[in-house]
Amino acid sequence: MSSFKALRIHQADKGVDPRLEDITLDDLAEGSVELRCAWSGINFKDALGITGKGKIARKFPLVAGIDVSGTVEASEDPRYKPGQKVLVTGWGLGETHDGGFAERARVRGDWVVPLPDELDLRRAMLVGTAGFTAAMALVRMEQNGQRPDQGPVVMTGASGGVGSFATRLFSRAGYNVTAVTGKADAAEYLKGLGASAILDPADVDYGKRPLEKAQWAGAVDALGSETLTWLTRTVQPFGTIAAIGNAQGIELNTSVLPFILRGVSLVGIDSVYCPPSLRLQIWERAAQLLREEDFNAICHSELTLDDVPQACADLMDRKVRGRMLVRLSGEH
Ligand SMILES: NC(=O)c1ccc[n+]([C@@H]2O[C@H](COP(=O)([O-])OP(=O)(O)OC[C@H]3O[C@@H](n4cnc5c(N)ncnc54)[C@H](OP(=O)(O)O)[C@@H]3O)[C@@H](O)[C@H]2O)c1
Repeated sequence: MSSFKALRIHQADKGVDPRLEDITLDDLAEGSVELRCAWSGINFKDALGITGKGKIARKFPLVAGIDVSGTVEASEDPRYKPGQKVLVTGWGLGETHDGGFAERARVRGDWVVPLPDELDLRRAMLVGTAGFTAAMALVRMEQNGQRPDQGPVVMTGASGGVGSFATRLFSRAGYNVTAVTGKADAAEYLKGLGASAILDPADVDYGKRPLEKAQWAGAVDALGSETLTWLTRTVQPFGTIAAIGNAQGIELNTSVLPFILRGVSLVGIDSVYCPPSLRLQIWERAAQLLREEDFNAICHSELTLDDVPQACADLMDRKVRGRMLVRLSGEH
């Protein structure tokens, strides 16, 4: 049986040990659809797992990578045929099931998303979990009544993968976007993605009262902690906040007042176990809104598997803006 390259996480005495290895299909977890992998991308969760800053891998050794796009090589699932282009994000890839940082993958049929017509295999991974999650925020906020004419929406952690796509998708959908970024040099980048205003977190008055001056029609939050608390205090009546991330921290110290006196909604976003029907709807919405120049603007770099550990360290050190792609076969 021929071997292929995979970046696997091994358990170490202290933390984890990521190794680029030659493995065979026999080493992969069970699944009904076998893929020839084309591209993956690096998400916050990948960086936590590979640097050992977060406990992401739940078994060892495990192929890392929570996202993958590729071509079906073989399928026991009648819904998929050899040669078909597909993508998979979440569902425990790179956490409980061998993931996308490898030249081959084997996944369950229920996890597979046929590639939307507007995307190719590379663009699908530029979107990846980060962009899918941002698009999920848009879809779920709109399901909850959010509309562009209500006023400005605010994106936090805006220069990151989720924040970049959130800025781009909401502005393409007609919203007036304020982007919050701690990177002094990211203003032009975010304006290029459609932000009409940039806010430095150092200039934010987080307030102390349960309700502060209402300034945002809605919010997409990648940070949690003090930032999400501030958003609950400052979103306007009947606005929606999408809680996506915890880059700043997991705690949320707020009160019930925004919810019972302003009708604010806090919508939870879980990209990993998003049900298949909603998943398809979200991918279609993202694919329809994004344009050629958006992919070019958000692409930070194209890496090989060897580059992934250093790239993950850079992401953790907040040195990256946009999305880093990982080339596997490189097929489009
Ligand atoms: N719910 C879900 O399904 C889901 C899916 C994907 C991601 N997430 C979560 O969403 C968050 C963002 O993911 P991502 O892939 O966009 O990561 P990323 O590319 O690293 O972006 C995170 C951004 O947050 C800001 N940031 C990072 N550390 C911070 C800190 N300690 N304090 C304040 N701001 C900080 C930085 O933005 P600036 O430099 O611009 O301020 C950074 O670029 C993560 O917590 C991730 O786990 C959740």
